[in-house]
Amino acid sequence: MIEVVKRQAEAIKIDLQQFAVENAEQLEAFRMRFISKKSVVGELFGLMKDVAPESRKEFGMIVNEVKQAADNRFKELIEQLENTKGQTGEMLIDLTLPPVPNELGTIHPLSLVRNRIIEIFERMGFNVSEGPEIEDDWHNFTALNFPENHPAREMQDTFFIEKNPDIALRTHTSSVQVRVMENEKPPIRTLSPGRVYRNEAISARAHCFFHQVEGLYIDENVSFADLKQTLYHFAKELFGPETKVRFRPSFFPFTEPSAEMDISCDIDNPKGCQLCGGSKNICKGTGWVEIGGAGMVDPNVLENSGIDSEKYTGFAFGMGIERITMLKFQIRDLRLFSENDVRFLRQFTSANL
Ligand code: DAH
Repeated sequence: MIEVVKRQAEAIKIDLQQFAVENAEQLEAFRMRFISKKSVVGELFGLMKDVAPESRKEFGMIVNEVKQAADNRFKELIEQLENTKGQTGEMLIDLTLPPVPNELGTIHPLSLVRNRIIEIFERMGFNVSEGPEIEDDWHNFTALNFPENHPAREMQDTFFIEKNPDIALRTHTSSVQVRVMENEKPPIRTLSPGRVYRNEAISARAHCFFHQVEGLYIDENVSFADLKQTLYHFAKELFGPETKVRFRPSFFPFTEPSAEMDISCDIDNPKGCQLCGGSKNICKGTGWVEIGGAGMVDPNVLENSGIDSEKYTGFAFGMGIERITMLKFQIRDLRLFSENDVRFLRQFTSANL
């Protein structure tokens, strides 16, 4: 048997040397005949099982030598072809084909704005905390001082879980306040961004899910002046040094006193108000647009979460991320954020923040 193998090996070696190629197809034919799995060299390897065990070592040397010869000849032919290419003008690779573009994604505008808000508050010593989107009644309502019959608990606002009315999709990120206070001791400075859900009809101005960022600051002697200063600083950082902030008295069950926070929209700018894009249809001609709510944490809420309200005070605030993003980037329809149209999503970068 080993003699047969020897003869075949010699024949293949001669064939190899005589095989000439002039173009890419012929090179491929060489590869099929001498290199690929089904090549004559491959077949030679297949004879292994018919060779007597004592001759296997010799067999291995013979076929490896042929394989080596085939590989060498293949390289030689490629080189030859490359060299003649210049003369004949033929190319192995078509360099004129358009490249397959490597598409990079972009960061969603809501994420850009969320990251920027986090960055501003992190510099003031706030950390970031998160809580579950599926929340229980205690964290979303009861601990936050919502009375038993408060309208916000009713079906039109809240998505309850049918089988268990104690569980709902959180309606605001204020629920994270409670979780942080339950688990940490003051001083607390935390920012909680996240998705919230409300049972609302979808339109350009409302959606059944959106995003908020909640802030909480608890320590000894925290005052309303601290709250105002913190939010003044934030508004100037995000919207520019000329931005003014005003607080209007308001009501939230979990803060006392409570306020709504507006920022100035530069209405007197002769070039047109920046936030409304000159249209005045967001500030409705008043020069102010609302960006969130705030207040001093109600002592009941501190006690419900295990914090001594005699010793500690604190402030909290909550803002809508969609709202701020729409103002920053002059977006007019909330639905664009969740439609995943890349033509829309591609337009935003952190350079504009
Ligand atoms: N949770 C409120 C909302 O969803 C926003 C808010 C208002 C949060 C006042 C606060 C706050 O922390 O102090 O409308």
